[in-house]
Amino acid sequence: DWTMANFIDMEVDKIREQVGDRNVLCALSGGVDSSVVAALIHKAIGDQLTCIFVDHGLLRKDEGETVMRTFRDQFHMNIIKVDAQDRFLSKLKGVSDPEQKRKIIGNEFIYVFDDEAAKLEKMDFLAQGTLYTDIVESGTETAQTIKSHHNVGGLPEDMEFTLIEPLNTLFKDEVRALGTELGVPDEIVWRQPFPGPGLGIRVLGEITPEKVDIVRESDAILREEIQKAGLDRDIWQYFTVLPDIRSVGVMGDARTYDYAIGIRAVTSIDGMTSDWARIPWDVLEKISVRVVNEVNHINRVLYDVTSKPPATIEWE
Ligand code: XMP
Repeated sequence: DWTMANFIDMEVDKIREQVGDRNVLCALSGGVDSSVVAALIHKAIGDQLTCIFVDHGLLRKDEGETVMRTFRDQFHMNIIKVDAQDRFLSKLKGVSDPEQKRKIIGNEFIYVFDDEAAKLEKMDFLAQGTLYTDIVESGTETAQTIKSHHNVGGLPEDMEFTLIEPLNTLFKDEVRALGTELGVPDEIVWRQPFPGPGLGIRVLGEITPEKVDIVRESDAILREEIQKAGLDRDIWQYFTVLPDIRSVGVMGDARTYDYAIGIRAVTSIDGMTSDWARIPWDVLEKISVRVVNEVNHINRVLYDVTSKPPATIEWE
């Protein structure tokens, strides 16, 4: 009968048989799906797996460290972290259109991945964390027709790989259970969804390093307070966004003219529709006070009370 332990044994056998003594490449984003697929394949073939983790400079606070601590230090995987911040930022300079930003980030990801893969010995297989729902939904009308989605791990066009997709019979909750069984830590297994373009679509309009820092720092405070309040598994996604507006405030005796930051927190089943989360006011207050005190250039905090539709979850 079907148990997670049986599933792992069967998949490990299948992967070993399919791969033989050849090599597998995996684009690891630190998200649930790519992390679990990497852990599963690593269990099957160990050093024949190489993971590439691209840091595009648009990751959340401590995200890169968590990924490396988990997969390099704990799992002892072959993992290459590519620090590509400058490459992405220079391509994005002067660009403020949301779709344009998404395209640039998605394309640049593939170029960086390509460049890195070209330095390795021959890779025959590409592992992808495709889920059952990804297959079922493709071809139907989804959010993807509203915004061009970029999923880290998209197949570079001119590379020849055979795909390995061992999660493609599983639902999300099964993938989480599998990850836990494989020893992937909770902070990854229970990670909230995070878009491929990262903080790049949470800095509205043109992206500058200073603005990315503002979003990253305020987002870290929000996440910490939501966790402390024990709300992290009830809220589908919670993050901050930086609209391109400044307003007048007062600090001590001085007038300030600085940015407002938005808080977006939603409940959802699948991300297709959502409602704004009723975060208790005292939690919101704590977040607001901390953000204004601890993050430079913020003098006002806004809370987004719009459902999807008509709004989307992300602001870009
Ligand atoms: P929207 O903003 O369209 O988002 O309501 C729905 C869900 O999709 C996530 N999202 C993305 N995920 N690549 C991804 O992997 C993307 O380009 C992308 N854009 C949005 C969003 O965070 C939400 O969970």
